Amino acid sequence: MNEAFAQSAPITVESAVRSHAIAFSFSKNENDEFLIEGPSQLVSQIAKHFEVILLDELTFFSPTGKAGELFEIPVSATDSETERIYLVGLGDKSLASIRLAAAAVGRKVRGKNIQVFAACTDGVDESHAFAVSLTLGSYVWNLKSDKEIKSPTFFIATNDQETLDDAVVIAKAICTARDLVHTPANIKNPAWLADQAVQLGKEFGFEVKVLAGKELAQFGGLRAVGNSSPKPGPRFVELSYQPRNSKKNVNALEHVVLVGKGITFDTGGVSLKRPYDTMIAMKSDMAGAAAILATLSAIAQLQPKVRVSALMMLAENALSGTSQRPSDVITHFGGTTVEVINTDAEGRLVLADGLAYADANLDPDYLVDIATLTGAATLGLGRQYAAMYTRDNDLAKELVSIGEESGDKVWHMPLIDDYQDSLESDIADFNHTADKAKYSAGSVTAALFLEKFVGERRWVHLDIAGTARSEVDAGENVKGGTGFGVRLLTDWIMSL
Ligand code: BES
Ligand code: MN
Ligand code: ZN
Repeated sequence: MNEAFAQSAPITVESAVRSHAIAFSFSKNENDEFLIEGPSQLVSQIAKHFEVILLDELTFFSPTGKAGELFEIPVSATDSETERIYLVGLGDKSLASIRLAAAAVGRKVRGKNIQVFAACTDGVDESHAFAVSLTLGSYVWNLKSDKEIKSPTFFIATNDQETLDDAVVIAKAICTARDLVHTPANIKNPAWLADQAVQLGKEFGFEVKVLAGKELAQFGGLRAVGNSSPKPGPRFVELSYQPRNSKKNVNALEHVVLVGKGITFDTGGVSLKRPYDTMIAMKSDMAGAAAILATLSAIAQLQPKVRVSALMMLAENALSGTSQRPSDVITHFGGTTVEVINTDAEGRLVLADGLAYADANLDPDYLVDIATLTGAATLGLGRQYAAMYTRDNDLAKELVSIGEESGDKVWHMPLIDDYQDSLESDIADFNHTADKAKYSAGSVTAALFLEKFVGERRWVHLDIAGTARSEVDAGENVKGGTGFGVRLLTDWIMSL
């Protein structure tokens, strides 16, 4: 909402001392000695300028060397705006540690009108990670009536404008996804979210098609869920990106199709969520759709030579006289019939239509869905790793490694064929809650259900129920939407 994006600044004393705070980093070597990192000439010039011995100051604080540990040294000098030097711990200097360090600096100054000059990392991947996480740590979202917006300004000491520009694109996209997730469901209904997509499409230059009402006749899953809230009712949004000025025939390019769960609020429907307070977090049940929309915004700026489509499956799962009933049989896009057992398993119903539509109409080379699908994913992996399902082991390895590098970590889970019989129904093609046998593996059986709709496509399912939302204000995250998936999907698409 009032996040701060990084700008570049020259690596000079004059440029540094214009800011209220200067951030350097430190690390510990094999002999347990601390070192101040950053451009060494600048570090010694700044120390001289403020007449401080940074290493002595640091030792005084008895640092542990953990990533993100932050110390503040008050300084002053004539002809200088600078009042503080921050020393932030880089831990083992891995990208994960650098992200924590950057987020710590961001968090230190969030909500304050402070200029920060940061010279903490070198290396392209390191600088990229630092610039993104600096913004994520400073992220704030609220609807407080106090209109005075305070936010920090970040200057990153670098000569590498391109790396910084890319980082800002990613950081902005993640913040877009977070903003959408944070928005409460009385504002964010399916029509509102579709309209956000239209606006972002105009801003960044990708096509947006919205289907509503009678146009959704074939989308039996989306209608069954979304008609529980008939005003304004469900929406199907198709976003399409193709590179500008591509010399190649666009149809010869590889086509990635993303499908996102966009439940703007999930009460569970007639199978109402219990205990009731588990519902409070359910405005974030559209995080998958937000992630793919934000990814398209980033992709349209980064211009990779692939085609990307994104299908946002938007509906509210409300409790009303027009809610679907447990025992209803619905017909999905493409004709597959499904017996609805528990109306709280609504995500797979809207995704099934999207996957079947993609298979029938878009000829995808890669079909990827992303959804806050099951509480079971959180039970299995907690909040740091998303559950990833795919039969393509090479692609899985690729995504695991992009996940570690980008910070959106995924764990390859098994599609266990022994559990297929749980999807059997006496009266329809499938039973959607997979409760016919007591296998417990709720995230696995949900994935097996989705697979029925992907045809022969190369398919990946990301269950982000654990990672899409943070319950704590810590590391790169604020309490609320994390923007999970934007970095993973964007970096992966850029690597194709
Ligand atoms: N949106 C929920 C899953 C969820 C739970 C996301 C907690 C984030 C945090 C989903 O629609 C749901 O209700 N899933 C059920 C499925 C069950 C009824 C088969 C679940 O996981 O309990
Ligand atoms: Mn549900
Ligand atoms: Zn849901």
